[in-house]
This record gives sequence, C-alpha cells and structure tokens, in this order.
Amino acid sequence: MEIKKVGVLGCGLMGAGIAQVAAQTGYPTVVLEVNRELLEAGLKRIDQFLAGGVAKGKVRPEDRQATLSRLTGTTDYKALGDCDIVIEAVVENLAAKTEAFSRLESTLKPAAIVASNTSSLSITEMAVSTKRPERFIGLHFFNPVPLMKLVEVSRTIQTGPGVEETVLGFAKSLGKVPIRTMDRTGFIVNRLLVPYILDAIRALEEGVGSITDIDQGMKLGCGHPMGPLTLLDLVGIDTTYYIANIMFDEFREPRFAPPPLMKRMVLAGFNGRKTGKGFYDYSSEPPRPNDFLAQR
Ligand code: CAA
Repeated sequence: MEIKKVGVLGCGLMGAGIAQVAAQTGYPTVVLEVNRELLEAGLKRIDQFLAGGVAKGKVRPEDRQATLSRLTGTTDYKALGDCDIVIEAVVENLAAKTEAFSRLESTLKPAAIVASNTSSLSITEMAVSTKRPERFIGLHFFNPVPLMKLVEVSRTIQTGPGVEETVLGFAKSLGKVPIRTMDRTGFIVNRLLVPYILDAIRALEEGVGSITDIDQGMKLGCGHPMGPLTLLDLVGIDTTYYIANIMFDEFREPRFAPPPLMKRMVLAGFNGRKTGKGFYDYSSEPPRPNDFLAQR
C-alpha cells in the first residue's frame, strides 16, 4: 500500500514533531488537536522549530515555507478521512487514546493504517478497541522527533500481512531508521532507558550527588549527549511518570516503579522544560538546577 497522505492525532511535543517530519519529507499532513488553542500552540511549536533550523542553517527558508504549506491543522476528525496512515500521539492514557480511535473510526477510510506513538501502552490493547486490529501497529518516535533518527515499529499477533512492511518503508521515507520490536510495554528503548532515568532520581533522593553532578557524571563518564535529569526535563516528568506506572503495572518489577519525588514534582507542576521548571529552572539561560530541590 502506498502512503500518500498522513494524519496525526495530537499536536503536543511528539505530535507536532511527527507532523513536522511528515510535512518536511513531502507528505500532505493533517494534524488534529482537541481545541483551537492547543492546535495554535502546536503549529507555533512547529514553525519555531523550523525557524530555529533556518537560523542554524539546517533548513532552507523555502523548505520551511513548503513544509508549512503541506501542513493543515484541524479540530475536526472528518479532515483525517482520506489519510492513508494516521499516527496517534495523544496523552499517554488508554482511555484518551481509545476515545480518539473511536472518533477516528467513524470517518477514516477502511484501507488506512492506524499507528500509535505510545511508548508504553500495549499495542494489542489499543488495536482491539478499534474495528481494524489487522491494520493497527506501533510506531514510536523519540524526542525531539525532528532530530532523533530512531523509530520503533511494533506489530502485534493480529497485524495483517504487508502492514509492517508498509510502515517500515514509510518510516524510512521520513528519514528515520526503524527497528522492529515485539508488542511489550516499553519496547526496546524504554525497557532499558526508564530504569536508568528512574535510578538517577533515586540517586538524587538519596543524596548520592547533586543534580549537576549526576548529569555531568553520565555526560562525561559515559559519553551521553545529555545527563539523565536533563533528559527527564526534555521528555517531561509527567510523561515519564505515566510511562513508569504503566511499565510497573505490566511487569511488577521495582525497577520500573516511579520514585516518590517524581509524583510530588508532577503534582507541583514541575514537569520539565515545557512548564519552565523540572530538575532545572528554565527562566534563565543557561538553566539553573531547580532551587527548591537544591535546598532539600
Ligand atoms: N532544526 C534543524 N536542525 C536542528 C535544529 C532545528 N531547529 N536544532 C538543532 N539542530 C541540529 C543542530 O544543528 C545539530 O546538527 P549537527 O549535529 O549537524 O551540528 C544537531 O541538530 C544537534 O543540535 P544541537 O547541537 O543544538 O544540540 P545538541 O548537540 O545538544 O543535541 C539533542 C540535542 C539531539 C537533543 C541531544 O542532546 C540528544 O541526543 N539528547 C538525547 C535525547 C534523547 O535521548 N531522546 C530520547 C528521549 S526518550 C524518548 O523520547 C522516548 C520516550 O518514550 C520517553
């Protein structure tokens, strides 16, 4: 099956990145948000990323314009009706996702593939909530989507012939490198990454090191591009908290259990870069370690 038109459900951090990459690689792309305000914020995020790319000499000004011209924002599911693939990137919550799929189902053409960008929920559980489990698959991108090369493609035991191949080819056409995984919560990357970043929070809680020293340790000691607490702020403390809970529910292993500080940060709205405060305070440049945590 040829993918000619792409739909994206959700224009948050991940959805905006996915929609940008699809439009940037030549696909007419429709991105849906639940209301105008969130849609405008998401489209602005895309434009700012492209503008940043132009400023860095990575994106040609004419490509920025061409990308934007291929991108349509909507709050109406009907606008997704003729897409060949729709990638779901709504909040990491099964009820929210199944609600989105049921609204999509009423308008989407039968031959279309539905892919979920979930990083931790079961693909099968979502697939069986739709009328097309054989045309349902996992397609997991990484943050920041326009810069990270990897996608995880997760078929289920119900995925029909040809769907995985189509999606692997589609991922390559987006300029990504796909890897294949089983439908197991966390797939490959989060299965390894989540215990590591949760351990960084536990190390902080136990006073093993400061925020900056924990981050420097992994950057300079292991060659990671950013330390685990900076990475948590990038991905979102809330998002990682949801992921950890889902993984803990599935495996019942303490290594996936979110540490108590994490819950308190989510309650306090210290969700990382997107809220201006997480392990670091982003109100100044360069960001400072969050004073509240430093005073503990
Ligand atoms: N448009 C186009 N290109 C851009 C750009 C933009 N707006 N902004 C930056 N770039 C380019 C830069 O020019 C640079 O290109 P070169 O390497 O060719 O010079 C490159 O992107 C890197 O940018 P920077 O130099 O500004 O920043 P950096 O070197 O600090 O890298 C980073 C930033 C890519 C995010 C890097 O820090 C990194 O890889 N961090 C780890 C991110 C990570 O682990 N993500 C996965 C999170 S887990 C997840 O997402 C899954 C989940 O389910 C939780």
